[in-house]
Amino acid sequence: MKILGIETSCDECAAAMVEDGRTPLSHVVSSQVEVHAPFGGVVPEIASRRHLETILPVIDEALTVAKVTAQDVDAVAVTNRPGLIGALLVGLSAAKGLALAAKKPLIPVDHIAAHVYASVMDRSNPSFPLTGLVVSGGHTSLYHVRSILDMERIGATLDDAAGEAFDKVAAILGLGYPGGPAIEGAAGSRKQGSVNFPRSLPGGDQWNFSFSGLKTAVLYYCRGVPKKGRERTREQEEAARRFDPSDPDRVADVAASFQAAVVDVLVERTFHAAKAMRSGGVALGGGVAANTLLRDRMTEEADRHGIPLYLASRELATDNAVMVAGLAYHLYRAGRIGGLDTDAYPR
Ligand code: KG4
Ligand code: ZN
Repeated sequence: MKILGIETSCDECAAAMVEDGRTPLSHVVSSQVEVHAPFGGVVPEIASRRHLETILPVIDEALTVAKVTAQDVDAVAVTNRPGLIGALLVGLSAAKGLALAAKKPLIPVDHIAAHVYASVMDRSNPSFPLTGLVVSGGHTSLYHVRSILDMERIGATLDDAAGEAFDKVAAILGLGYPGGPAIEGAAGSRKQGSVNFPRSLPGGDQWNFSFSGLKTAVLYYCRGVPKKGRERTREQEEAARRFDPSDPDRVADVAASFQAAVVDVLVERTFHAAKAMRSGGVALGGGVAANTLLRDRMTEEADRHGIPLYLASRELATDNAVMVAGLAYHLYRAGRIGGLDTDAYPR
């Protein structure tokens, strides 16, 4: 069964053909990074407008590379939640148009579930239940994954997503956008830096996260606590002495210190949850899952706990349509098909 997947929930415009939920026949991603970079983050309205320009060429390319026509497609899958509402609507409208014209079923797909699916897509028998961590620019959430089609959220960030913290800290350090690869590049081979930034593990019943305190700690470390008025405070003078933004070694040290703090928290929370939930394994997906330190630390910890780690490949960790078309195959088989009245939801 050949499914065309479409993904426009944020700033990647993507389409892919996937056979039987597993075999990608094409994988097209048109990134908007360069249009959002001057703003240091994704501007929703610009994202929707750019999707409008790129969606049809991207779908055409996905069909051409896979050597199929719209008539050969068995179903059209599309991300309809969560994401930027205008961006989602562009993909959803294109998918509806195609499904209607080619008389094919429409399969709405949850973006986060697709990120989890990306981590087990190439495995035949994942050891369910899994603890799934989806860590991206918009989300940092833990799931109890009973099966590919049954996952329950057991924790989430209370404020910034981890990827968002990477993006904001990169802006503080003058490293540009997107921040994840920039911080990772600046930190280089340093697994740890000299600054012991806070590791926040919020209490309560859930396995929640919080990254805004860490982000603020980096800001104050680099610039001191801001005060009204023109005079520099003593703290700001001290910050200027300890951190020189034009010194690549200091930038690398702070980048590595920040990265280590994020990774510590993600690893600790995930494996703590996995143990408490008696999970058979851990699954990792989302854009931040492209980070080498996170991948290495998760791998070490899984070995230590003697449970398998299901890691999305770097290519399928960041937003793509292969994971959408892949998961849609299982949704289709379970009868989870949408009508032309399918809506888009930001959450
Ligand atoms: O999943 P994704 O492509 O889009 C969303 O659904 O948000 O994730 C994008 C996020 C960005 O915040 C980006 O900075 C982060 O993933 N990211 C990384 C790395 N590559 C991308 N964070 C840390 N290390 C990386 N290598
Ligand atoms: Zn994503």
